[in-house]
Amino acid sequence: MNKIRVKSGHKLYGSIDICSSKNAILPILAACTLCDGEVTLFNVPNFSDIKKMCAILRSMGAGIIEFDNTLSINCKNIDKCLISNELGGDIRASIIFLGATLARLKKCIIGQPGGCLIGNRPIDLHLFGLRQLGVKIVEEHGYLYCDGSDMHNGVVEFEKQSVGATENLMLACVFLKGKTTLKNCAKEPEVVDLANFLNSMGAKVFGAGTSSITIFGVDKLHSTEYLPIGDRIVAGTYLAATAICGGDVEICNINPLHLKSVLKKLAYCGCNVSTKNDKIKISANKRCNALKSITTGVYPKFPTDLQSVFLSLMTVSKGNCVIHENLFDGRFKQVPELLKMGAKIDVVCNMAKVTGVKKLSGADVCATDLRAGAGLVLAGLNADGYTTIDNVHFIDRGYDHIERDLSLLGAEIERL
Ligand code: UD1
Repeated sequence: MNKIRVKSGHKLYGSIDICSSKNAILPILAACTLCDGEVTLFNVPNFSDIKKMCAILRSMGAGIIEFDNTLSINCKNIDKCLISNELGGDIRASIIFLGATLARLKKCIIGQPGGCLIGNRPIDLHLFGLRQLGVKIVEEHGYLYCDGSDMHNGVVEFEKQSVGATENLMLACVFLKGKTTLKNCAKEPEVVDLANFLNSMGAKVFGAGTSSITIFGVDKLHSTEYLPIGDRIVAGTYLAATAICGGDVEICNINPLHLKSVLKKLAYCGCNVSTKNDKIKISANKRCNALKSITTGVYPKFPTDLQSVFLSLMTVSKGNCVIHENLFDGRFKQVPELLKMGAKIDVVCNMAKVTGVKKLSGADVCATDLRAGAGLVLAGLNADGYTTIDNVHFIDRGYDHIERDLSLLGAEIERL
């Protein structure tokens, strides 16, 4: 069982390269299914969710070679349309294979996706969109049996913005004859990156990053080499870590525009933040001021995935903060762990009222999901004595050895 032990008292200094984005790579891996040739992906981190997506690809007939942080994927022989519960059942992104497999093989059998337990995570928008395009879907024995033999182009208007549903539909439409329009799409940078990846293989996807995406069907996709965008959530985590510990850190390989709402918050906290090309510099020299409020929302609003991390920052900031979580109803599960550490937090439904204390107190705590786990690591960076975080496998879903990155910046942190 892996645990991480953290001790406070060290400022963070130095420079860190951010890996490619987990939430960009996962749908890109599903999209590889559409390519007859070879796809090479660069700067791919060693996240457990990425390994699980590769295992699904292999089970469908793909060949994958990994060297350093490069993945070389050949989907020429893809011929299996089953994504089993054993392989897909504990990651959310497995559902993106649905659109891709329907596009490639015209049929798909897939279990319900898993993922972090951060509340209700339905897939009704995904299924609605596919049904609008003629896919027949039957749910039986925990699996969705999907028949895409009569798929056709059309217009799909989502009731609300969903990253996963937008990505799934985009993939389903790549080979549909004529023009398909998706309306009320998610505008997250990872959606744009997926469209750019598809277009690098010869797809015709226009409008990603706006609410309306148009896809003109093509006959086939060709080989490509692709560098996915930097991970804005990992970058935001290390920025918040610097705000908690103090110090001067440069974050490299990240598009600052992807973190606009987050950088604004850090500046309100009293940090000096500057950006240049693909770099963000943060300098934090005193205890942060609490933000009046943090309200999560769809991009470009404040990302829900950084809410857990900023909750930890607020527990040690000067003043009171109200956090409104608008996307997932189970995103305050780490609060009981933070209370053990002396934090002052009241949770009422989707709202957390935080009163900052000068210092937390180190304790044995347990990660409840990926970002909550990262939040606990950050809390430990400003807690008297040692903090030991259990259930590190959650953190490994989206950080490539968080303890290595933070100790490179000067934190006292190790994996036990
Ligand atoms: C993706 C990210 C996740 C991030 C989330 C929101 C990946 C692998 N995961 O998740 O890290 O926290 O975006 O930025 O990229 N919804 C429905 N019906 C659906 C689908 C979604 O009601 O069919 C709701 C969800 O419950 C949620 C909201 O829509 O309240 C947004 O969810 P969505 O954008 O779909 O998140 P994911 O794609 O699952």
